Amino acid sequence: MSDESRQEGERLRGSYSAAAGSVHDSSLITHHLSLPALTVALPKGRMQDEALTLLKRAGVEVSSSELASRRLAIEDASGRYRFVLVKPADVPVYVEHGIADCGVVGRDVLLESEADVLQPLDLQISRCRIVVAALTNASQDDHGMMHVATKYPRIAATHFGARGVPVEIIELSGSVELAPMLGLADCIVDLVETGRTLADNGLSIVETITESTGRLVVNRASYQLKAEAVAELISALGAALESGTRKA
Ligand code: PRP
Repeated sequence: MSDESRQEGERLRGSYSAAAGSVHDSSLITHHLSLPALTVALPKGRMQDEALTLLKRAGVEVSSSELASRRLAIEDASGRYRFVLVKPADVPVYVEHGIADCGVVGRDVLLESEADVLQPLDLQISRCRIVVAALTNASQDDHGMMHVATKYPRIAATHFGARGVPVEIIELSGSVELAPMLGLADCIVDLVETGRTLADNGLSIVETITESTGRLVVNRASYQLKAEAVAELISALGAALESGTRKA
């Protein structure tokens, strides 16, 4: 190894230990101990606003300046809750690992994930369906392997597997509705909320696999160790849901 690369290695090791040292800085640990009672993972995107509205009805409010910032970890006005804003599919990951005590996530994501988390409450937000859809005028070909494009490979495989239909699952990350039109797949398994994306891309629903709504999920250990704080959040959300139902 040259002197130069050795020096560079030492410099990098130095920076890493300085960073690690700051994590263990005692003032930070003291600060950490006074952190909010619960950390809650919220899904960025379509469910985030509905989740925040429901939380507000439950008395947990996040200031608009916090929301307007690009910070991905924010606190509510009371300082009792810290919210971490993550991709929907990552919510069960953070909760299962106990980085977040609780989370808000769609049933669709939970079905697709293998995360071992508790699901104490159906929040009844972001109601949607997971469907099989195909080109509106597609001719039915019952022979051979069907190609299914989806962001939900597990849900799709379970669905067709249960029916004994041989399929090849083509996993995509988004814009799944393009696949049949471009000849990548015979059909898709995807989420439908208003139905506009399907209609605008010449697709029709063939069948509904299941319905999905937002759920509150809780880490198993937090459920025991932070029982009081978790129960308080569940009860506040439950009351907000009930008052919403009464008003509707
Ligand atoms: C979801 C879903 C559909 C669309 C359905 O995609 O995968 O594409 O929303 O909504 P609609 O029935 O109201 O039209 P999302 O917006 O999450 O984006 P993505 O395709 O990039 O995943």
